[in-house]
Amino acid sequence: MNNHKTVLAAAWQQLEKAIVNHEGRPVGTVAALDTGPTALNYDQIFTRDFFVSAVAFLLNDRFEIVKNFLSVTADLQSIDKSMDCFKAGRGLMPASFKTVEKNGKERLIADFGELAIGRVTPVDSSLWWLLLLRLYVNFSSDREFVVQEKIQKTMKAVLDLYLVGHFELIPTLLVPDGAFMIDRRMGMYGHPLDVEVLFYAGLRASREMLALHPTEENKNYMKEVDHRTGHLAYHIRTYYWLDKDRLDNILTYETEEFGTDTRNKYNLYAASIPDWAPAWVGGNGGYFAGNIGPGRMDFRFLTLGNLLAIMTSLADDDQQQKILNLIEHQWDSLAAGMPMKACYPALEGLEWHLITGADPKNSPWSYHNGGSWPFLLWLVAAATVSTDKKFLAKRALDTAATKLLTNDWPEYFDGKDGSQVGKESRKLQVWTIAGYIAAHKLMENPEKAALLSFEHETGGAGCPLKV
Ligand code: GLC
Repeated sequence: MNNHKTVLAAAWQQLEKAIVNHEGRPVGTVAALDTGPTALNYDQIFTRDFFVSAVAFLLNDRFEIVKNFLSVTADLQSIDKSMDCFKAGRGLMPASFKTVEKNGKERLIADFGELAIGRVTPVDSSLWWLLLLRLYVNFSSDREFVVQEKIQKTMKAVLDLYLVGHFELIPTLLVPDGAFMIDRRMGMYGHPLDVEVLFYAGLRASREMLALHPTEENKNYMKEVDHRTGHLAYHIRTYYWLDKDRLDNILTYETEEFGTDTRNKYNLYAASIPDWAPAWVGGNGGYFAGNIGPGRMDFRFLTLGNLLAIMTSLADDDQQQKILNLIEHQWDSLAAGMPMKACYPALEGLEWHLITGADPKNSPWSYHNGGSWPFLLWLVAAATVSTDKKFLAKRALDTAATKLLTNDWPEYFDGKDGSQVGKESRKLQVWTIAGYIAAHKLMENPEKAALLSFEHETGGAGCPLKV
């Protein structure tokens, strides 16, 4: 614990330095303090990265910076965003923003993907925003903030964009590659778990926030949100789920089935089950697959989505237990030298070449492709502190603490065992720092995890069909 004390004090020192002020008020934290020779956009405030800082601040009763962040990003949402004159939907939130001086005046400029490497769209930003709004209210009890017209409008603009009807007959969002934390081409296009679970979290958060101001209009939104939440929950719990039974089912599935009475709705082929999967899942493990679509299940394990599914109660009790069993038994593949891998396993060989576009930054067992991301520590703690697997969070923190401090808080680690500092990793990466602080605080005050999590939902029944 002494060791943690030193590490924690150092972490706070850096987090304070990372704070960005706008018009004299703190509005966020930069992505990295040490931006190296080319800052790229690491000197900006990222919405997804700030979420982790925000959790650290909220857990320590620092509400103002979170409130200001929510407010300035609400302002940014309402500006026109376009690339080659083509406009994005109004509800989109920036991936990142920063303050600039122009004619002696301080202004904020934002990137909605039109400036980003590869021009990737931040589908996750608006959803993190909704979830953060709820956390801010839960921690601060400042309900007045939500009732303000600007915040109401912002929330509804997000819902209008995310609840709009689309081509598919499923409740998940159709998402392009690179649209979330994994913001490069990694074969995540379709319905990637991380975004879909975040969508569920965003909907549940918005439901609670709408209920604080129950006008007729808001009640109508609540109905729509309930409807979508029920279907989404059913869909993810049913079709993404993988454990021994489901794998056995896939092995015995009929294929090429047409019509209503089909077990194998996605026409999955037994031969697509990777060799590693059955033994890796074992008899008492389970997880939500990375993606599902016609003729394709992506068997990769995505850590953020699975942990968030526990925190939000999207995973039912049995599923929660099985995901935690899996993390415990597969600790060496998912955490090892630095918790936790963003995804497992890595894409290698021809698969890597074709799927990533031969991306050298995402070479096997590096960065998003099987690299280890210590910012996920907060989520390990949030998902486990109230369960009998709390020791996993302790193990994760004990593994990470000294390594993070002595290596200057790297953005990510490389290698199958997560033992090397990432080859292009930034130092003094702020969500690494904040992730450690938040995890530590949650371990000390496990009762606070209740303010982050959701009860099992009782609303929309989804659908009675069984696979
Ligand atoms: C990288 C990461 C992304 C993160 C950003 C800022 O682009 O892939 O997830 O938000 O850096 O830290």
